Amino acid sequence: MKGIILAGGSGSRLYPMTKIYSKQLTIIYDKPLIYYPLSVLMLGGIKDILIISNEETIPQYKKLFGTGNELGLNIQYALQAAPNGIAEAFILGESFIGNDSVTLILGDNIFYGYLDFLYNAIKTESPGATIFGYQVNDPERYGIVEFNEKGEAISIEEKPKVPKSNFAVPGLYVYDNRVIEISKNLKPSARGELEITDVNKVYLNEKQLRVEKIGRGVAWLDTGTPEALLQASNFFGVIEERQGLKIACIEEIAYKMDFINKEQFAKVISGIPKSMYREYLERIYATE
Ligand code: TTP
Repeated sequence: MKGIILAGGSGSRLYPMTKIYSKQLTIIYDKPLIYYPLSVLMLGGIKDILIISNEETIPQYKKLFGTGNELGLNIQYALQAAPNGIAEAFILGESFIGNDSVTLILGDNIFYGYLDFLYNAIKTESPGATIFGYQVNDPERYGIVEFNEKGEAISIEEKPKVPKSNFAVPGLYVYDNRVIEISKNLKPSARGELEITDVNKVYLNEKQLRVEKIGRGVAWLDTGTPEALLQASNFFGVIEERQGLKIACIEEIAYKMDFINKEQFAKVISGIPKSMYREYLERIYATE
């Protein structure tokens, strides 16, 4: 299983912040936003990760993560020249994906809670596609899934004016290798994008699409607007302060997932400047 983080886009709703830097580098409480989706892939056991972004931002991601080698990861980078749509990720990532399956996560999507259902979907590598449905109160902003009485998905619509349900599709998608071919055959939508909803519709029509409903115990947070950024920062600030544990701390995750051993973990810590972040990792090192 390969992983892709799509982390370009225009971030126009966060202007003027996004005039100078990418949305996925904005800070959520104590770390850059992209750490949260990266940690989901890592917890799903994925080590081969492609970060797709624009020309200005790729050098910044390289500065943050390098080759990923220090954390037992293989991180590569690919350029998306313009925000041509989410499904373009599979065309840009074709050689990286090779013959494997692929999980795509959007660089601005945050998941928090008991996520084993999600990690299992990543690890199972079933043929077809697995996407998720999350209940929201503003369905017209998202791709929306309609279910029949048996709980099976029967339609998906992108940003419907009259939504057929409140179940939005979050930015995490698990596909078999056919997704490359399917994406290459897509036509741009009216807004000029290769739509991920169109990819999902192909799988749906072929009865190859699983849509798993996410329970209310899981937080799927939006980060597209200044209010949403502030809410997400407050949310993680409260939990981290209360528990004394960091969320989406990629160094800790690499160690706990056995991507690196204790000696390598010590080396990673020694490269971090004196900070609360380093103190936290030293505490983890001493106790686990
Ligand atoms: P969006 O929220 O659809 O768009 P955006 O981030 O450009 O923000 P705004 O609507 O304020 O202009 O994008 C969702 C995520 O997917 C986000 O992380 C950016 C990323 N993305 C790309 O990298 N390339 C693309 O072509 C698209 C459509 C999105």
